[in-house]
Amino acid sequence: MKKILITGGAGFIGSHVVRRFVNKYPEYQIFNLDALTYAGNLENIKDIEKQPNYTFVKGDIVDEIFINELFSIHNFDGVLHLAAESHVDRSIEDPLAFVKTNVIGTMNLLNAAKNQWKDNFYDKRFYHISTDEVYGSLGVEGLFTETTPYDPNSPYSASKASSDHFVRAYGETYGLPYVLTNCSNNYGSYHFPEKLIPLFINNIINNKPLPVYGDGNYTRDWLFVEDHAIAIDLVFHEGKNHETYNIGGFNEWKNIDLVKLLCQIMDQKLGRPEGSSQSLITYVKDRPGHDLRYAIDATKINKELGWKPSVTFEEGLERTINWYLNNEEWLKNVTSGSYKDYYKKQYS
Ligand code: NAD
Ligand code: DAU
Repeated sequence: MKKILITGGAGFIGSHVVRRFVNKYPEYQIFNLDALTYAGNLENIKDIEKQPNYTFVKGDIVDEIFINELFSIHNFDGVLHLAAESHVDRSIEDPLAFVKTNVIGTMNLLNAAKNQWKDNFYDKRFYHISTDEVYGSLGVEGLFTETTPYDPNSPYSASKASSDHFVRAYGETYGLPYVLTNCSNNYGSYHFPEKLIPLFINNIINNKPLPVYGDGNYTRDWLFVEDHAIAIDLVFHEGKNHETYNIGGFNEWKNIDLVKLLCQIMDQKLGRPEGSSQSLITYVKDRPGHDLRYAIDATKINKELGWKPSVTFEEGLERTINWYLNNEEWLKNVTSGSYKDYYKKQYS
């Protein structure tokens, strides 16, 4: 039985990856390592927690001794590394927290994997899950490809870029077998409501202002999270060693257009008069260093591995909104406590 370590499996994307692997691969023993920060929640994976091939480990990837012990006890065959500090706005407030988890934490995992596997790399794989933000910002034209030079602008993207570089360096220097993916903006269920789509759904439900940064003319490429989990599964099993793949939705939206669409659907779902949610839109101070546009060219993963998004944006958004409306208890639970302080500070 293969032992697979998934880090950050109590977070948004990680929970979808853990669920997929636990259900699809009963022959794997899945270890979900998560520090349960504000963004990690065991409720996100409650449906699989009793499966015989699943084990949860609470721990911090920044703790080198703990990580080395974990690897020496379990002798993992593969690692899917998703644990990270992931919110750009928080990285502007506290960059060092991002260096600790995203850079030092990744280094600890790389060292543990290298030391464990160094005598025989055969059939081992370190999969680093990263972001398109490492490429910086596009103008109105063009797409990010796997060869676009790194040009990160926020402390978050700088920390992810740094971790990507270390992963590649461990591949080149020590022969560590790795794969790396850079993905665009995800949306879907279990998304913490500090990010645009779940934040605005939650605010519409509660009739609170919708804080659009700057003029709202910033563009993101949105991908349904379950399609990202499918791509991760494919790259882990079939991706070429030492290769990078871009993953994206072929689905660009200006923030303001996306927010207006969201408002329209929410009015219908909540039985509110047309235009009520849109009246909540409030233009606020821009995010410092705000990247104008992200858009992914996902040709390589499509040509080499046959992946493309399976869910249209209309369907994905519908499923996402329905999920939040049917899981208001989850929303209430995650928006209590320290979230309230964060929200007050960020939007006051
Ligand atoms: P998230 O913030 O929802 O979840 C992160 C998880 O990591 C949480 O469960 C948290 O508890 C855990 N974690 C944080 N610090 C930790 C530490 N020191 N030790 C152990 N666990 C820790 O993030 P997400 O949106 O699910 O993103 C997952 C990964 O995918 C990240 O690496 C992110 O950079 C990348 N990514 C995200 C997106 C996106 O749109 N959300 C897009 C592309 C790539
Ligand atoms: O591109 C991939 C990245 O997408 C991931 O690596 C990050 O982890 C993830 O958080 C996401 O980053 P963004 O900064 O693009 O996502 P966010 O949801 O924070 O913002 C999306 C856009 O909406 C961005 O242009 C900023 C804007 N925005 C965001 C918030 C939270 C607003 O206008 N108002 C808001 O309140």
